[in-house]
Amino acid sequence: MRIFLDTANVDEIRQAAKLGVISGVTTNPSLVAKEKREDMKAVIQEISSIVDGPISAEVLSLEPEAMIQEAREVSSWSPNVVVKIPISASGLEAISVLSKERVKTNLTLCFSLNQALLGAIAGATYISPFVGRLDDIGHDGMQLVSEIVEVFDRYKLPSQVIAASIRHPLHVSVAAQAGAHIATVPYTVLMQMIKHPLTDIGISRFAEDWRSIQK
Ligand code: G3P
Repeated sequence: MRIFLDTANVDEIRQAAKLGVISGVTTNPSLVAKEKREDMKAVIQEISSIVDGPISAEVLSLEPEAMIQEAREVSSWSPNVVVKIPISASGLEAISVLSKERVKTNLTLCFSLNQALLGAIAGATYISPFVGRLDDIGHDGMQLVSEIVEVFDRYKLPSQVIAASIRHPLHVSVAAQAGAHIATVPYTVLMQMIKHPLTDIGISRFAEDWRSIQK
C-alpha cells in the first residue's frame, strides 16, 4: 500500500515529502485552479522536482485524437508524469493507443466496476475510483474499491487501484484493508492520519513523569 498526496499545492507537497511516506502525487484541473496557477506544465514540473514517484496530470481535451496529442505533450513534461484521463469512449480509445506507446495513464472519474474493468482492459496503468463523491450521493464508495480489487486479482489485471476522493483517515484504513494499491490523500487527511489523542496524552505524561524526578 502506497500513499500519494492529492494536491497541487507545492508547499504541502514539500512538507509531506519530508516525512518519507509519500510516493507520488495526483492533481486535477480543480486542484490546480484552487492554487490560482494558470500554467499546468510549470506546476507539474515543480512537483516533479520535489517527488520522485508518479505525478498525475489531467488532460482537458474531449475528442480521442486531441486527447492523445495532449497526453503525449503532458507526458513529455517530466519522466514521472502519468496522464490522467476521464472515463469515456474517447478516454478508452486514448488509453489503448497510449498504453501501446508506454505512456502511463490514470483512468479518472471512475464510479463503477464496469468503468474500472474497461479502463484496465484498455491498458490503464492506474484506475482511480472516487470514493468520497460516491459516499456524497449515498453510495458506498469503499465497496467499489473492494469490488475492483477483487475482480482485478481474479483476472490478474495489472492496473493498480488508487482509492481517490479520500475525505478522512478511515477511508485510508479501509482502502488498505480492501487491498487498494494506493490511496491518494489530501494534506489535511495525511496530517490527521499521524494524530491520535492517546499519543498526545502519552507524550505529555512521559515528559511530566520525567520532570517529576528532576532535582
Ligand atoms: O483524486 C481525486 C480527487 O482529487 C477528487 O477529490 O474531494 O474533489 O472528490 P474530491
